[in-house]
Amino acid sequence: MTATIGQCGVKKETDSHLFFYFCTFLFLFFSLSRITRYDVATMCGIIGYVGTRPAQPILLQGLRRMEYRGYDSAGMAIFDSQGVFVQKHQGNVQKLASSLPSTPMEGRCGIAHTRWATHGIPNDVNAHPHTDCHEQIFCVHNGVIENHTKLRIALMKRGHQFRSDTDSEVLSHLIEEAWRREQSLEDAVAYALKQVKGTYAVVISARDKKDFLIAARQGSPLLFGVCEDHSLVIASDLSAIADETRDIIILEDQEMLIGTQDAWSIRTLTGEKKDRTTQRLLTDLTTVQKNGHPHFMIKEITESSDLLRMSIAREKSTQEIHARVEAQKYRWLHTTRFIAVGCGGMFYNALIASQGFEAIAGIPSKAITGSSFRYDSLIVDEQTTVLFLSQSGETADTIAALRKAKGQGAYTIGITNVMGSTIAREADETFLIAMGPEISVASTKAMFGTIHVLSELIHAVASLRGKNHPEILNALEQIPDQLAEIVAKRKEIADLTKKYLTCSHALVMGRGYEEAAAKEGALKLMEIAYLPAQAFHSGELKHGPLALISDQTFALFSIPKDDVYEKNLSNIEEVKTRQGKVIVLTTKETEEAQGIADDMMIIPKTISLLQPILSMCALQLFAYAFAMHKGYPIDQPRHLAKSVTVE
Ligand code: F6R
Repeated sequence: MTATIGQCGVKKETDSHLFFYFCTFLFLFFSLSRITRYDVATMCGIIGYVGTRPAQPILLQGLRRMEYRGYDSAGMAIFDSQGVFVQKHQGNVQKLASSLPSTPMEGRCGIAHTRWATHGIPNDVNAHPHTDCHEQIFCVHNGVIENHTKLRIALMKRGHQFRSDTDSEVLSHLIEEAWRREQSLEDAVAYALKQVKGTYAVVISARDKKDFLIAARQGSPLLFGVCEDHSLVIASDLSAIADETRDIIILEDQEMLIGTQDAWSIRTLTGEKKDRTTQRLLTDLTTVQKNGHPHFMIKEITESSDLLRMSIAREKSTQEIHARVEAQKYRWLHTTRFIAVGCGGMFYNALIASQGFEAIAGIPSKAITGSSFRYDSLIVDEQTTVLFLSQSGETADTIAALRKAKGQGAYTIGITNVMGSTIAREADETFLIAMGPEISVASTKAMFGTIHVLSELIHAVASLRGKNHPEILNALEQIPDQLAEIVAKRKEIADLTKKYLTCSHALVMGRGYEEAAAKEGALKLMEIAYLPAQAFHSGELKHGPLALISDQTFALFSIPKDDVYEKNLSNIEEVKTRQGKVIVLTTKETEEAQGIADDMMIIPKTISLLQPILSMCALQLFAYAFAMHKGYPIDQPRHLAKSVTVE
């Protein structure tokens, strides 16, 4: 592939996007820094509306904007003078939308939910809203009620009848019971929530309370906006209310919002009144759109080059990282062991981090997944530095690993895309990647942004330890244009995939840093194209995986033209000798590779530490094209959700 396009047409738009992202970060910084904790559970999206307009379209639009949080089922309850209208279904928001009346219902109060199932399979009954025995109370919930089994057994003994298998349903029954005793619905909700252990963001309404909503949170995000006509929109996510208003309040743990058509107040669960004023959201979050792309995934890959360009060129970014490393000189100079931790795709970036810290900064290093770190007996002490990589900053296993490492005295560092996230707040030192919101479930641009910050960190630590590697910063400057070159060739990549659509299995291979890229390529093929795919170090091929080569398989080798290139060519020969199909992803069209590859993808060359940014981009585009040809949903692969906040 060669560089062919100029990005001028795109740039203006992206400049304004970047401005928007920075403003958003600033806004989030000032607002989220006031929040005590987001422990777990950013999965599922909840929304409520009470005001002067029909609730149905407002709730539906909010659900659409939050769908990346979960799409196993969706439901809505609309309250009007006739009673309550409830629709809930297994499946995504579109399925719910098609079951709703085409002329919006009159009701000016309602609640809605989009679900990523934790307790209870995704089906119609387990979809939210959940109600009590008499269908009086309706509740949407995001979080995990940890003591739900105990509560459910006790409630059942007292005669309550449950319909669903969810943990959430206990809330409606607890409130039903409390309302018999308490004067007001808000006191009943407060009483019920005090019995709950775990995390929740809830929006609640009742059949007999006209135009009245209660919302509360503990550990799960929840905020509300006040519209010009005094209507209220309450949601898990800023994006879900941004169509309606920019005047918002972020609820804090243990706080309850009591809202009617034209008034609202906040109190704590213990009854203390809170005086809060709205903050004006300076940016237009509704601009987080696909911008003409068919999917967020391709939009996010496409914009990554411009975002990285601005991030790399950001005034003082390198100096800032150096200064922060210098400020922790003692820690870095006394680090005898470096461990990088991440889950899923971010674990592959952890592999790159560990190789880089060992090879370039000279610190013995290891990479491990968050789930292994939690339970493995690793040697971690005051001389260990542990790096946590997470786009969302909310991945449960990574957070648990962070807390464990801190507990053992390690120096902890986070690299994340989300300011104010748990990892950003709890790590001793946090570096943010400025890649803007990532909506597609499959992570793309955040992978590249992480490798960028990681490489600057390795550069700074290596310098501190007396090893100068100017080639890292020089190579970084070229990366945005090189990424743009690859993206410009996405049609060619898409055409190439067509030949392999009948294959039922893929092997993806690479050596050194490219092993991480190969793993990312295989993960994306599984995640969005549902193609069984395995990744290996190419040197491992003849120790087993070779047995899988058949006319149903293709082998994809990521082999930049480097000092192990010849060895990789021998591995390819081994596949060709057995009539296997081979795709070579490389940096130079050599005669040897041409002679043995069925197809080639040529990408620009950079230093080996940064090469995975480019290889991963090509492999993501390959998987994207594969999934497109197969007609899969791409942004919302089955069974998955964006933030994995449960163990
Ligand atoms: C893969 C993917 C996931 C995430 C993983 C970690 O495309 O998106 O494997 O990389 O769930 O998520 P974060 O980075 O939010 O910790």
